[in-house]
Amino acid sequence: MQILHISDIHFRVQYEAAQEGYASVLYRMTNPLELLDRCLERAFSEHPGIKLLMITGDLCDDGKAEDYEVLRTWLTKNLRGIKMIVTPGNHDRKAEFRSGWLGMKAQGEKEADLPYNEHWSGDELDVLSLDSAVFGESDGCFVQGQADWLAEELKKVGDRPSLLMTHHHLLDAHEGIRAVSCPAEIAQLVKESHVTAVMVGHTHHCFAGYWQRKPYYTADGMSFYGIDEPDGSVRFEEKYGYNYYETKQGLIMASEQRTFSENRELANIIFF
Ligand SMILES: [Fe+2]
Repeated sequence: MQILHISDIHFRVQYEAAQEGYASVLYRMTNPLELLDRCLERAFSEHPGIKLLMITGDLCDDGKAEDYEVLRTWLTKNLRGIKMIVTPGNHDRKAEFRSGWLGMKAQGEKEADLPYNEHWSGDELDVLSLDSAVFGESDGCFVQGQADWLAEELKKVGDRPSLLMTHHHLLDAHEGIRAVSCPAEIAQLVKESHVTAVMVGHTHHCFAGYWQRKPYYTADGMSFYGIDEPDGSVRFEEKYGYNYYETKQGLIMASEQRTFSENRELANIIFF
């Protein structure tokens, strides 16, 4: 199976006209739909057999339901009918995501903010989308009940191969960005499971390694990335890219990470 993995789109129909701080990064960057368009064009021309798209979080950036609707409509139109699976990130408001992306009617505040998990069963493999995000909490958090959900779904998967996707990265070895604190129960479940690979986002830097003895991949963001400078500031530049995988009987047989950058600086910010 041919799979495309992208992450961290940070989409909004309109960004605040800011000249300072994080908001200025969003305001100055090229609209993510333009970058997405370039990415999909390149990915599909090189790999016309792609059958699945995984998006590992930060679909929108503090977006409203309308932003999710616009993004979903755009993707559906441009994806040539392939299946799409997502997980939310820490910049996604789950109530807005549920309303705009899933088309769910307004719910109680508590219900609307519950983690969003998904289990998709394909012909060759299953995909488990496990929510590691809480809006506004950059480091992420697997809230209570997430380990139970994963245990339950892995039971259903049985000995079929599966891929696990979550927003936050699970290894500290990512440009100095702290990994999410992963409950030992989740790590153990993955280690002992038939999960054949783990896909994450959040860092906006592509990476490939191993976690719990499983191949582990981070995709570039579809927007910007931060570079720590020696003076303590963070320089933001535009960068985007995608990961591509080929699986056979659920095992990753080939992978490719593509990064595109014109070194366009967006902002240099000192965070206190
Ligand atoms: Fe992000």
